[in-house]
Amino acid sequence: MRQKIVAGNWKMNTLLQDGLELAKAVEELAKSKKCDAGIIIAPPYTHLAKVSEVIGEVKLAAQNCAAEESGAYTGEISPDMLISVGVEYVILGHSERRAYYNEDNDLLNKKVHLVLSKKLSPIYCCGEVLEEREQGKLFDVIKEQITVGLKGLSGDDMKNVVIAYEPVWAIGTGLTASPEQAQEMHKFIRDLLVEMFDTTVAENTTILYGGSCKPSNAEELFANPDVDGGLIGGAALKADDFIQIVNSY
Ligand code: 13P
Repeated sequence: MRQKIVAGNWKMNTLLQDGLELAKAVEELAKSKKCDAGIIIAPPYTHLAKVSEVIGEVKLAAQNCAAEESGAYTGEISPDMLISVGVEYVILGHSERRAYYNEDNDLLNKKVHLVLSKKLSPIYCCGEVLEEREQGKLFDVIKEQITVGLKGLSGDDMKNVVIAYEPVWAIGTGLTASPEQAQEMHKFIRDLLVEMFDTTVAENTTILYGGSCKPSNAEELFANPDVDGGLIGGAALKADDFIQIVNSY
């Protein structure tokens, strides 16, 4: 069976000391979690090395990485650098990277391949903006993001890929996809994985929901058969809320 995951994306929040406190609190609370979901946190780059020393069983993710292995790319962080500080997952294609830093599906596909070649696990994000949903283009948009972003991967590669569906209109807005909307898209993505790979890959791929997920709505979202956990933004900045979401299983 596919793994359940709850991942916290801290985005550009917390200074190092606050981040360390938050990570320690998550680790402490995670010890008493009441379910078998894996827990991942994605602090800013500057915190990764220190945070990795205090999180025990909690796994570490980066929020992005370079598309190149090494060299003259000022300001970039390579997958090998991430590995050297204990990172195991890399969020790729978050809608904020797509919208503000012009990351497109082809670039993301390059990053996905690089990350996998280094034995890191990409958490590959997809999601439509409100206009696309209203115009009925949501499935086309997600199909394009997934087919291009995951192009050229093998079924074996897919064992290490996590997908996150994050409708852009629900991120940081307080608007959440209804459980039905989430399930509908997660099912669509899983069916697409059958077409692209096979049933085994589709059944074994973890698909997370993200977008204003919080303690009050996590349970009804996670109750859906194709929702395998969450990618949490704002509510991941409070250890209590974050672990409550984990315990919604
Ligand atoms: P919010 O939970 O703050 O809406 O953010 C979701 C998100 O973007 C996680 O990557």
